Amino acid sequence: MSNKNLIIFDTTLRDGEQSPGASMDIDEKMQIASALEDLNVDIIEAGFPIASQGDFKAVQEISSAIKKSSICALARALDKDIERAAESLRDAQYPRIHTFIATSPIHMEKKLKMSPEKVLAKAVDAIKLAKTFTDDVEFSPEDAGRSELKFLCDVIEAAIDAGAKTINIPDTVGYNLPHQFGTLISNIIKNVNNSDKAIFSVHCHNDLGLAVGNSLSAVLSGARQVECTINGLGERAGNAALEEIVMTVRTRQDIFNCDTRINSKNILKCSRLVSGITGFPVQPNKAIVGKNAFAHESGIHQDGIIKSRETYEIMRAEDIGLVSNSLVLGKHSGRSAFKQKLDDLNIMPKNDSILDDLFFKFKDLADKKHEIFDEDLINIASNIKVAENSINFNYMNVVTESNKKPHAHIKLEIDGKILESKASGDGAVDAAYNAIEDIIKSKCKLILYSVNNITSGTDAQGEVTVRITKDNSIFNGHGADTDIVKASVLALINALNKFKQNPNQNSSKKRGI
Ligand code: KIV
Ligand code: ZN
Repeated sequence: MSNKNLIIFDTTLRDGEQSPGASMDIDEKMQIASALEDLNVDIIEAGFPIASQGDFKAVQEISSAIKKSSICALARALDKDIERAAESLRDAQYPRIHTFIATSPIHMEKKLKMSPEKVLAKAVDAIKLAKTFTDDVEFSPEDAGRSELKFLCDVIEAAIDAGAKTINIPDTVGYNLPHQFGTLISNIIKNVNNSDKAIFSVHCHNDLGLAVGNSLSAVLSGARQVECTINGLGERAGNAALEEIVMTVRTRQDIFNCDTRINSKNILKCSRLVSGITGFPVQPNKAIVGKNAFAHESGIHQDGIIKSRETYEIMRAEDIGLVSNSLVLGKHSGRSAFKQKLDDLNIMPKNDSILDDLFFKFKDLADKKHEIFDEDLINIASNIKVAENSINFNYMNVVTESNKKPHAHIKLEIDGKILESKASGDGAVDAAYNAIEDIIKSKCKLILYSVNNITSGTDAQGEVTVRITKDNSIFNGHGADTDIVKASVLALINALNKFKQNPNQNSSKKRGI
């Protein structure tokens, strides 16, 4: 591996999935894994196989399908975890086992109730066992950011001697400041005798909003791998955002003597896919992928941009896959223009039946909306589902009138049969949802409902995300339409389909680590 290459290790499917409410089913994880492979991510941490049967199967399926990126499975420093991780990775082209044990005084004493000597011995044994399954073993001293330097260095040296090829330094609780974390990395590299035999990695949490700053400071101090997630998803306040790491390093080549292999033109598409699947909207002012990240509102800025783009833009919107709000296709556009546009936007699906579905959805939208923007197409492409649904939308009639309770008449096609119901509610959406529940009788509880507009204007597509729960399992649903009541209905149907396919998806899961 050249020293110039900054390795991107994506943990959206593992640490990202530990965000409360961000659980994903196997089909959704496969879609994300495939988008990460298209993004050219070096390593995909696909899950924590001992945590649940669902995690195990997801790592197994991703290992069989993804052949360009390495696939990594997480394991505590325990034999049963490592054996399970190895089994899940059996079909991976490039398997990596990532094992970890905490090294900070507070974690060793209060959580593990283990002496430092015992922790060191456990780390060594775990790495040796992992090495019997794959040569590519990563070791993390959990809570390294609050560990004592001398002990941390001893553990790392022993870990490298035991065969760990990558040493990952986590700031597990997001406690460090950038200058401090950078110094920690240089001190480790300087004080660990065999540090030249491993690649140093960092894994920063965002509790103080410093995950990206800390990761980049570490890169400047010699780290050659960054662990990150799409949209900064992750436990509590999240992890370092992949898109921010990648675009900072690429934009500031005057500072960084390395670059990533990421195909940045796929960043926006990936961000939208993850947001759609998890139901976590991206804040408008989020760096790189927020709706406003490349928008210029003030007259002075707009004037500057017209005269010379570099006056107010340090990156090109095209480089993250945003072809600036240009008017693209209309209802008379044919299939070849449509295909050309998908190609330009880098969102051409891999199989023809998805392309047909996409074309149908485009035509349907073009019937309702005069102007189809690139964002509309990216949104349709990000949310296209391959799986067959057993509940399908058939008809809705929702009436709201002053001083009367809104009411809705809904028809659903369920396993080929049309079922219908009428109900009232506190608002149009509530009435429609009551009618749907009357048909499905899921007894799921709605715990999140959010609406976003994809482009501007009153004919813009409304994008609705819902989250429903039953027996500790969570299902996210997503729907988009120019009519937000219809988008709401589609979102609930989407979540209910997931519920019907796998009602106990997470109920046996030991969440997180
Ligand atoms: O935050 C953390 O310490 C982790 C480790 C498992 C790397 O996620
Ligand atoms: Zn973490």
